[in-house]
Amino acid sequence: MIALAQLLAVALLLTSLPAGLRGATTRTRYDTKAIRSRFSEDPGRIINGTEASLGATRHQVGIRKALNDGYFFGTGHLCGGSLIRPGWVLTAAHCFVDQIIYDGTFVPKEEFIVVMGNLDRYNRTNTLTFTIDERIMQLDIFDLTTYDKDIALLKLNDTVPTGHPTIRPIALARFAIAEGVVCQVTGWGNREDGYVSDILMTVDVPMISEEQCINDSDLGHLIKPGMICAGYLEVGEKDACAGDSGGPLVCQSELAGVVSWGIKCALPKLPGVYTEVSYYYDWILKNMGEDANGEGSGEGSGDNGSGEGSGEGSGDNGSGEGSGEDGSGGGDGGDGGGAMAAMAGTLTLLLPGILALRLMATQF
Ligand SMILES: *[C@@H]1O[C@H](CO)[C@@H](O)[C@H](O)[C@H]1NC(C)=O
Ligand SMILES: *[C@@H]1O[C@H](CO)[C@@H](O)[C@H](O)[C@H]1NC(C)=O
Ligand SMILES: *[C@@H]1O[C@H](CO)[C@@H](O)[C@H](O)[C@H]1NC(C)=O
Ligand SMILES: *[C@@H]1O[C@H](CO)[C@@H](O)[C@H](O)[C@H]1NC(C)=O
Ligand SMILES: *[C@@H]1O[C@H](CO)[C@@H](O)[C@H](O)[C@H]1NC(C)=O
Ligand SMILES: *[C@@H]1O[C@H](CO)[C@@H](O)[C@H](O)[C@H]1NC(C)=O
Repeated sequence: MIALAQLLAVALLLTSLPAGLRGATTRTRYDTKAIRSRFSEDPGRIINGTEASLGATRHQVGIRKALNDGYFFGTGHLCGGSLIRPGWVLTAAHCFVDQIIYDGTFVPKEEFIVVMGNLDRYNRTNTLTFTIDERIMQLDIFDLTTYDKDIALLKLNDTVPTGHPTIRPIALARFAIAEGVVCQVTGWGNREDGYVSDILMTVDVPMISEEQCINDSDLGHLIKPGMICAGYLEVGEKDACAGDSGGPLVCQSELAGVVSWGIKCALPKLPGVYTEVSYYYDWILKNMGEDANGEGSGEGSGDNGSGEGSGEGSGDNGSGEGSGEDGSGGGDGGDGGGAMAAMAGTLTLLLPGILALRLMATQF
């Protein structure tokens, strides 16, 4: 009954949404070439992607709005993220931008939870839920016209136990990834057939060099230091639109990028843009209290390799098991991180309305 009432409420809301409100999450100063966060874009989905495998995505986490999720597990989904240490998550700063005011200010960290452990975001089996003790970013106000410094480091209120069956941190890429390397981006979202996928999806995208992205894409000067492009410049039809904003771009078993933004999706000359992990590597380690130059304290941060995990994971040293899904059918997709967001973002935005409607509905 409650589920039914909720569905009804959601349906009502979605159909009665004022257009202005619906567009709120995609408003920018650009026009046709607007920079868009990859969680608010319309199609926001993985097209021609494939279901992710658990073995390759144990580091994937979901950032959720606590209020919505407390109401119905799974509905609070907002962004992706990556577990990089047993108690630390890396995601995108723009995930926390207030979507209603939309001037770049951030919503308090207390309003979010971090959930991980199952490919199906509605399934609680094996999942762990955390609150955010610390949220470390490089900005007080996010610049929505540039998406510069789109990175956020989250200290969880607890750590994932070593040897957890479905959760394991991934190593950070310390060095830039070579052009042409095929990477995987993952996220929750709708499929191309319109069927809503609750399962984590994955898509392959090749790395594009910064120089080539600036020279040969239409993104040009929008590419700032600390941003990397991945996708198919020429054909475009396999953009990285797959993942949620904040979600992982994994190259050679290391976390190389954070889903950040894009312009439309899967169009030629408009590849997906990611925050470059190696660019922020020292900042990340320093803020986790690790020494970037020392013998890697954390998994994978050691001198050279990380990657193919030593050991069962979340322990002090070993980390990342490969993420290498073998070639999945690339796919283009909705605008970026978009995944879930098309829907979740809307729900999130309208929570007060949902609650009100729910009260009404349950009184029938
Ligand atoms: C999905 O892939 C198929 C075959 O590769 C292609 O024909 C189709 O256009 C793709 N779908 C989209 C939406 O790009
Ligand atoms: C929930 O996830 C577990 C572990 O992946 C799986 O065994 C179970 O069948 C799932 N339950 C549902 C209802 O999908
Ligand atoms: C961390 O937060 C989660 C979710 O609120 C809670 O269930 C858990 O008990 C907390 N852990 C600690 C150590 O406080
Ligand atoms: C990019 O453009 C610059 C300046 O026009 C040129 O020197 C450089 O060779 C180009 N690089 C690539 C990879 O096209
Ligand atoms: C790791 O570094 C050591 C010493 O710097 C080097 O001998 C070794 O070949 C490196 N291993 C890999 C896999 O790069
Ligand atoms: C990981 O570290 C623990 C102690 O922190 C050590 O006992 C173990 O041998 C290390 N494992 C590897 C693979 O280095």
